Amino acid sequence: MRWQKLPASPPAAPANIACIAKLRAITMTTTDLPWPSNTALRAHAKRHEQLQVSELLSADRGRPADFHCHAAGIDLDYSRQLLDVPAREALIALVAETDLASAREAMFEGASINHTEQRAVLHTLLRAQTPPSGLTTEFAEIQQCLQDQQAWVDAVNSGQHRGFEDQPMTDIVNIGIGGSDLGPRMVVQALTPYHQQLQVHFCANIDPADLDTTLSTLNPATTLFIICSKTFSTEETLQNAAAARRWLLAAAPDPSAVAQHFLAVSTNLDAVAEFGIPADNVLPLWNWVGGRYSLWSAVGWSIAFAIGNAGFKQLLAGAQAMDEHFRNTPAADNMPIIMSLLELWSVNYQGGSNQAVIPYDHHLGRLPAFLQQLSMESNGKRVTNDGTTVGYATAPVLWGEEGSNGQHSFHQLLHQGTLLCPVDFILPLTSHSDDKDRHRRLVAHCIAQGQALTQGRDLQASEDSLIQRGTPQDEAKVLAPHLVIPGNRSCSTLTCQQLTPHALGALIALYEHKTFCSGHLWQINAFDQWGVELGKELSANVSEAMQGGTSSGALDTAAQALLERWQQP
Ligand code: F6P
Repeated sequence: MRWQKLPASPPAAPANIACIAKLRAITMTTTDLPWPSNTALRAHAKRHEQLQVSELLSADRGRPADFHCHAAGIDLDYSRQLLDVPAREALIALVAETDLASAREAMFEGASINHTEQRAVLHTLLRAQTPPSGLTTEFAEIQQCLQDQQAWVDAVNSGQHRGFEDQPMTDIVNIGIGGSDLGPRMVVQALTPYHQQLQVHFCANIDPADLDTTLSTLNPATTLFIICSKTFSTEETLQNAAAARRWLLAAAPDPSAVAQHFLAVSTNLDAVAEFGIPADNVLPLWNWVGGRYSLWSAVGWSIAFAIGNAGFKQLLAGAQAMDEHFRNTPAADNMPIIMSLLELWSVNYQGGSNQAVIPYDHHLGRLPAFLQQLSMESNGKRVTNDGTTVGYATAPVLWGEEGSNGQHSFHQLLHQGTLLCPVDFILPLTSHSDDKDRHRRLVAHCIAQGQALTQGRDLQASEDSLIQRGTPQDEAKVLAPHLVIPGNRSCSTLTCQQLTPHALGALIALYEHKTFCSGHLWQINAFDQWGVELGKELSANVSEAMQGGTSSGALDTAAQALLERWQQP
């Protein structure tokens, strides 16, 4: 394709309303939504095609205070969302219309809401402070597990637990994948300022480079592994665990070293025993804790090793405070509910197929990866609870990266691209660093990005800015369309005073509950993950065929061709 000459006269401004409407038309999947107020919401969405966030903000100086929630030390400012008061009311009406309150109670009370696996969903019980009636046995088991976890952390930290050369441990390696990795890894990194003496590492990938790189700097005599797997049947984890054991035993005098250097967390105690880890080194997990909701259980053992038992308790307390808020606050002020309604508004009424999460905190760099599993494994579903194919979009693609790094990269698309992608900015207001000035500049960037998304820059302002920079007028006219930023793109900002264990616990629980609400509104099961199973089965076939097994017949021609390429010397 040849480049076309730039037009002599640029297209007419203003670009933003027409541009956004066009994008919506492209990306809007359907209007076939199940709730009664869908018709009203569609009318509101139509009306919003003519609205601008900048005008909503300038027309109502109280909007930042109105479009705001506070919970458990977290503030949500959603005044930059393309949403007016009547549309917000229509969205909030969905809460009663779909009886979200009953569904929420069913979860907290331990009903079998993961109906495709006949399981309760009780991650909230892991951080509860008192036993809810009917769940006293489970509560007691959790408390026992917490005590055992704490005792191990104390024993290792104090040097009482020692390795095969009678030295104290210096390094912990958590081996797990998915929910047995993403949450603890994200939290340990996020709470770097709270780290104590132990170095905590994570290994997930079956790619040998992952474990090899981790082990290359470690001393087997002072390394303690946690094999973290709810099922204890996940190939990646079992392969890495076996490789770690080989590495240890290559240095240790005899196999009894496994008992000194391996811990495990699992529901599958038989498989753990078969691997050779003694029962005293194992903490339990329960089927009523989903993998992606499990960091509050002993899956978070590595967190406790990193930040200590008191820090881990603070993390639980923050989550528990958010649980209380979610359970007891009316919908209009309920932060997880509001965030879920914003997600629905974006995905189902604004044509938003993406959601960016951009933490303005270096240590929160793994938060988008954690939220990807939480949101996309939970709500990336295509059938409703009764097995009917959905007639509307469900979970958006969630992605993100720490700010301000993304400003020099994908923010181009956020401001001028053809994809509508609302943003959650996450901003701890004070830093653990002593360099207050550099942190102040980081905060300034975050605030400015929100304003840029709202405000944009029209053609005239673009031309003026070029002229101010010394560009000759005729050239400025030609260049100006390239500088136009439509604006009117939605974002929210979540702030906390400082990223403490308590604040982080609350933030994670917030997203968990938001995910629950969205699953409920979309009438899908947010707690199973059947979609990831087929790939595992096919991989077993491919693996067998690679070793000359009989499964090659199960491979299609493209897979066969790749296999042959792999087999070539
Ligand atoms: O394959 C998906 C999955 O089951 C996730 O849901 C889970 O978090 C991950 O694998 C790890 O599973 P496990 O803890 O049983 O090894």
